[in-house]
This record gives sequence, structure tokens and C-alpha cells, in this order.
Amino acid sequence: MHRGLVVGLAVLLSALGAMAIVAGCGGHAAIAPPGPDDGYVGAAVCGICHRAEMDDHRAAGHPYKLVKITGGLPPVFPFSTVPLTPAGYSWNDITYVIGGYGWKARYVDRNGYIVTGDAVQYNLATSAFGPYEATVPPGTKPYDCGACHTTGWVATGAAGPHQDGLAGMYGTFSEPGIQCEACHGPGGRHASTGNVSDIRIDRTAEACGQCHYRDAAKQRIPAKEGFIQHHEQFEEMRSAGHRALSCLDCHHHHKGSLYSSEGITRNCQGCHSTQARNSAHGNRASCEDCHMAQATRSALAPTQYQGDVATHIFRINTNPVGKAAMFYTDAVTASHRGELDEVAATSPEYAHGFVTLDFACYSCHRDENGVGGTGSQKTLAELSAYARGYHD
Ligand code: HEC
Ligand code: HEC
Ligand code: HEC
Ligand code: HEC
Ligand code: HEC
Ligand code: HEC
Ligand code: HEC
Ligand code: HEC
Repeated sequence: MHRGLVVGLAVLLSALGAMAIVAGCGGHAAIAPPGPDDGYVGAAVCGICHRAEMDDHRAAGHPYKLVKITGGLPPVFPFSTVPLTPAGYSWNDITYVIGGYGWKARYVDRNGYIVTGDAVQYNLATSAFGPYEATVPPGTKPYDCGACHTTGWVATGAAGPHQDGLAGMYGTFSEPGIQCEACHGPGGRHASTGNVSDIRIDRTAEACGQCHYRDAAKQRIPAKEGFIQHHEQFEEMRSAGHRALSCLDCHHHHKGSLYSSEGITRNCQGCHSTQARNSAHGNRASCEDCHMAQATRSALAPTQYQGDVATHIFRINTNPVGKAAMFYTDAVTASHRGELDEVAATSPEYAHGFVTLDFACYSCHRDENGVGGTGSQKTLAELSAYARGYHD
């Protein structure tokens, strides 16, 4: 008999044995042993041998990205709730919920199409509905988002095959949500051998960037209506001083950052001790407050200077200019990208690799019109004078 297989079986048997003990020897452990091929086996099987990793993963947003609705019951998230359906739909009319963990939820109808209209996107910050693709007739917007929302996605288009036989699902997947095998690859062989050489580990920024991007070429930072668009952390990080970092230089690979204080494993001070010593605001503002301003919008923007996602550009432009200087269109030559010069933009479409002072400072301070936070009023000129050489 092949040695790997013997070891593999031993590993598997001891794991199942451990499970039986946990289950009180009741013998009702119903998880089938994985097949010995390279296929997808599902997170439940990984969890048999990797309990701690499973617990971390299940407390983060990834597994809830797409949740199947069964029995007419609302989805369950560990830290958020999506208690309502759009008007005209009950939970029996919904097959899947998209998101609902961090910012917003969208709904998939009985035929697999994403529900569209004026009040169909549930926003967590307000517990109220807002528009999604309001001009697209309901029942016609296909679900083709699976490459970033599911595990083992195969895009199939209108011709199918369709997940669950739902015509609006333009693809199939092994599991909804970002499960273990979305990052580690199909784990059938590893699950039967327990060999580390049979499973993939990828620590690069590109691995996270296969989903946390928007620009097809992963070069520019698409923007809309005066905000960076969401899910572009990869392009944002690549646009300025952190371009050589991996996401995992700061992030835990399994723990989320939205609701967990352990999701960020390394703070700024560890790599930037000089700036940490010389920060005139002291504890009135954290590094993230200024350098990771919410210049990005996913669901809502409380003010024109504040969206709802922390930007990953980090670099601050200290010129006395507002966000019009941060965005540019294709009319601006590519050579301007990332430079700290002021560029007038008529219809903003992309963001430069810097954040302007209105985003960096008006979450706390206020502009001349009183728009912004509750701190003191400051003009852009006043902010600029103070921001130049801020850490000197
Ligand atoms: C039958 C038990 C078993 C199952 C099921 C199992 N693993 Fe493992 N896994 C192991 C063992 C044993 C190791 C080696 C642990 C060590 O060396 O510390 C391992 C190691 C790993 C590693 C680390 C590899 C490295 O290079 O250090 C990853 C990642 C991993 N498993 C992911 C998975 C995923 C994903 C699944 C589900 C598809 C899965 N495992 C299912 C037993 C299992
Ligand atoms: C978002 C991508 C992602 C998902 C989802 C994911 N992992 Fe991992 N996992 C990683 C990365 C990256 C590493 C390597 C971390 C390192 O070495 O710095 C890793 C490491 C591991 C390890 C080695 C031990 C450790 O923690 O370093 C195991 C075991 C593992 N993962 C199992 C799992 C299991 C089981 C699941 C599902 C419950 C899962 N992973 C889901 C990305 C992921
Ligand atoms: C290129 C990958 C990608 C594609 C394609 C994509 N998304 Fe996402 N989406 C993400 C990522 C990554 C996030 C979370 C990070 C962020 O928003 O910055 C996200 C967040 C979301 C959220 C908010 C999740 C929450 O818990 O609040 C919703 C809702 C959503 N996407 C819907 C969609 C829909 C509908 C489609 C298809 C029409 C789609 N997305 C296509 C990557 C993608
Ligand atoms: C793993 C180390 C590491 C961590 C952690 C880290 N940085 Fe950096 N940072 C760097 C490196 C390397 C550079 C580029 C070289 C330099 O300017 O020192 C850089 C550059 C910068 C720059 C200059 C950017 C530019 O384009 O001019 C800013 C601002 C910055 N970091 C802020 C932060 C903030 C805020 C945090 C915490 C959220 C942080 N850094 C965490 C390593 C790190
Ligand atoms: C297969 C696609 C995919 C991959 C690969 C992926 N992500 Fe995500 N990520 C998402 C989506 C989609 C969301 C939104 C989930 C939600 O909120 O419902 C998300 C949310 C997040 C969040 C916010 C939610 C939370 O739990 O705090 C963080 C942080 C994050 N991802 C980091 C990473 C890192 C780091 C990596 C690489 C190790 C990675 N992601 C790889 C798709 C992906
Ligand atoms: C220099 C450190 C650093 C690096 C590198 C980094 N992040 Fe983050 N990230 C953070 C911090 C800190 C937060 C929490 C921000 C906050 O609480 O305002 C965060 C938050 C997030 C969030 C949640 C958004 C939100 O509004 O809180 C996502 C998603 C995310 N990061 C994804 C990524 C991905 C993907 C990469 C790699 C392309 C990456 N990050 C690289 C430090 C980093
Ligand atoms: C997290 C909140 C926060 C952010 C972000 C913030 N500040 Fe402040 N700032 C304060 C508070 C609090 C004070 C003291 C009370 C006041 O003036 O409102 C202050 C005071 C000031 C003062 C008065 C001088 C002093 O040191 O007391 C200036 C000038 C200033 N900030 C400039 C800036 C600039 C420039 C930025 C952006 C690069 C910025 N602030 C971002 C909270 C913030
Ligand atoms: C009140 C807003 C504010 C806070 C808080 C803040 N910074 Fe900065 N930081 C700035 C501004 C503005 C610049 C740009 C200075 C310049 O270009 O002259 C800057 C520049 C930097 C740079 C680029 C190198 C340099 O010294 O110019 C790094 C690195 C940096 N900050 C790290 C940090 C870290 C780490 C923290 C937390 C300990 C932090 N910053 C807190 C506003 C802030």
C-alpha cells in the first residue's frame, strides 16, 4: 500500500475518532469521508481537522458573502442582522442573500436574479432600504458575481448550467461564500492525505487581490460620484508607498478586521516609530483616522467627505485642495497617475494615489460651511499649513 495513503487514512481515522469523542460516542457524526481526488470537499470537512482555523474563519465576513435562504427564514450573521426583505418579497421569495455582514445586503429572487429597484438594498448603517440598479427591470439582472463571492465558481453564462437550476445564476459553485478552498484551492487530495504538499498557501497581495480589486488591469482606482468605489484595496495599496507590502503584513489571514480587534496583527507604529513619536494630535486622532480615511463608499456616505470603507492609499496630499484634485478622467494622461500635483477633473472616474485633506481631516474638523465632523472649523489653507511636515 502507498505510504501516503496509510498516513492519510490514519490521520483521517484519528480525526473522525476525535469527532466521535466530541460527539459523545453517539455515532451520529454524519460527515462523509472526502474522496481521494483533487475536487472540492467543503469547509465542513476541513473543519474536522482544523477546528481553530474554522472558528476564526466563521467569525469573519468571508463565509457569509453569499448565504442560502431555506425554510423562509432570514439569514444568520455573527455580528449583524438582515431582518427584512424588500417590499413585495417574503423570505420564501428569496433564494440567496448577498452580503449583509459589513455594509449592505442585496437579494436573489426565486429564479436566481438579483432584485433591482428603488428600495431593494438593505443598508446596515441605517437599517433601511436604498436603490440598486433602479433602472434595470426586476427579474432580469443575472447573478454573475460568483468569482469573488463563492468557492469553486465556474462562470457559465445564460446557457447554464445554473446553480440550483436557477436560470438567473450565471454559474455554479461548490459552496456559497468565501470558504477555505477559495484561498487554499480544491482540498480533496489533502483532506484524504493530510499532506501539506497537497494544499495551497499563498501569502501574496495578489492572492487577496483576486477579489479585492475592481479595475480590470488592476492598475487604476475606479471612482464614482466623488468617492473611491469599494473592493479596490489591492489597487489602492499598489498606488502609493505600501506597494511592496502584502495584505498579510497587517491583516490576519483568517480573522476579519471589521468586528475583531485581532484581525490587524501589526500596527503602524511597529514600522513607523518616528512618525508615531511625532504626531501632534497625540491620542486625539489615530494613524488610521487620517491615513485610512473613509474616502471609499460601499453603501452610504454620511457627508461629502466621508464614505464607509477605509481607504488603503495611506499617502496624504498636503496641498490646500479638495477632492476634485484627487479624481481624474481618462482625459488626463497616464503619466499623472500617483503624482502629487493638482489636476482639475471634470467628471471624476479614477483616484490618484493620494488622499486629499478634506477626506483626511473633515471626518473630525468642519469646512467653512460647517460640513464634516464635530471638531473645530478649518479651511483647506489652514489644514494645509498644519499638515505640511506634520511629523517633523
Ligand atoms: C484528515 C484531517 C485533515 C483534513 C480533513 C484537512 N486537513 Fe489540512 N492538514 C492536516 C494535517 C495533518 C496538516 C499538517 C499539520 C502540521 O503539519 O502542523 C494539515 C495542514 C494544512 C495546512 C497547512 C499547510 C502548510 O503548508 O503548512 C493548510 C493550509 C490546510 N491543512 C488546509 C486544509 C483545508 C483547506 C482543508 C479542507 C479542504 C483541510 N486542510 C482538510 C489534516 C487535515
Ligand atoms: C481569505 C483566504 C483564506 C481563507 C478563506 C482560509 N484561509 Fe487558511 N490560510 C490563508 C493564508 C494566506 C494562510 C497562510 C498564513 C501565513 O502563513 O501567514 C493560511 C493558513 C492556514 C493554515 C495553517 C495554519 C495557520 O493558521 O497559519 C491552516 C491549517 C488553514 N489556513 C486552514 C484553513 C481552513 C480550514 C479554512 C476554512 C475554515 C481556511 N484556512 C480559510 C488564507 C485563507
Ligand atoms: C472583483 C470581485 C467582486 C465582484 C465581481 C463583485 N464583488 Fe461584491 N464585494 C467584493 C469585495 C471584496 C467586497 C468587500 C470589500 C469592499 O467592499 O471593499 C464586496 C462587497 C459586496 C457587498 C457588501 C457585503 C457586506 O457584507 O456588506 C455586496 C452587497 C456586494 N459586494 C454585492 C455584489 C454584487 C451584487 C455583485 C455582482 C453584480 C458583486 N458584488 C460583484 C468583491 C466583488
Ligand atoms: C510592515 C511594515 C509597515 C506597516 C505595518 C505599515 N507601514 Fe507604512 N510604510 C511601510 C513602508 C516599507 C513604506 C515605504 C517606505 C517608507 O516611506 O518608509 C511605508 C510608507 C508609508 C507612508 C508613506 C506613503 C507615501 O506614498 O508617501 C505612509 C503615509 C504610511 N506608510 C502610513 C502607514 C500607516 C498609517 C500604517 C498603519 C495603518 C502603516 N503605514 C503601516 C511599511 C509599513
Ligand atoms: C474569493 C474572494 C476573496 C478573496 C480571495 C479574499 N477576499 Fe476578503 N472579502 C471578500 C468579500 C466578497 C468580502 C465581503 C464579505 C462580506 O462582508 O460579506 C471580503 C471581506 C474582507 C474583509 C472585511 C470583512 C471582515 O471580516 O472584517 C477583510 C478584512 C478581508 N476581506 C481581507 C482579505 C484578505 C487579507 C485576503 C487575503 C488573505 C482576502 N480578503 C481574500 C472576498 C475575498
Ligand atoms: C499597512 C497595513 C495594511 C495593509 C498592508 C492592508 N490593510 Fe486592510 N486594513 C488595515 C487596517 C488598519 C484596517 C482597519 C481600518 C479601520 O479600522 O479604519 C483595514 C481594513 C480593511 C478592510 C475593511 C474595510 C474597512 O472599512 O474597515 C478590508 C476589506 C481590507 N482591509 C482589505 C485589505 C486587503 C485586501 C489588503 C491587501 C491588498 C489590505 N487590506 C492591506 C491595514 C492594512
Ligand atoms: C479623529 C479626529 C481628527 C482628525 C481626523 C483630525 N483632527 Fe485635527 N484635531 C482634532 C481635535 C479633537 C483637535 C482639538 C480640538 C479642535 O480643534 O477641534 C484638533 C486640532 C487641530 C488643530 C488645532 C491645533 C492643535 O494642534 O490643537 C489643527 C490645525 C488640526 N487639528 C489640523 C488637522 C489636520 C490638518 C488634519 C488632517 C490631516 C486633522 N486635523 C485631522 C481631531 C482630529
Ligand atoms: C492628524 C492627521 C495625522 C495623524 C493622526 C497621523 N498622520 Fe501621518 N501624516 C499626516 C500628514 C498630513 C502627512 C504628510 C506630511 C507631509 O507630506 O509633509 C503624514 C505623513 C506620514 C508618513 C510619510 C512620511 C512622513 O513623515 O511624512 C508616514 C509614514 C506617516 N504619516 C505615518 C503615520 C503614523 C504611523 C501615524 C500614527 C502614529 C500617523 N502617521 C498619524 C497626518 C497624520
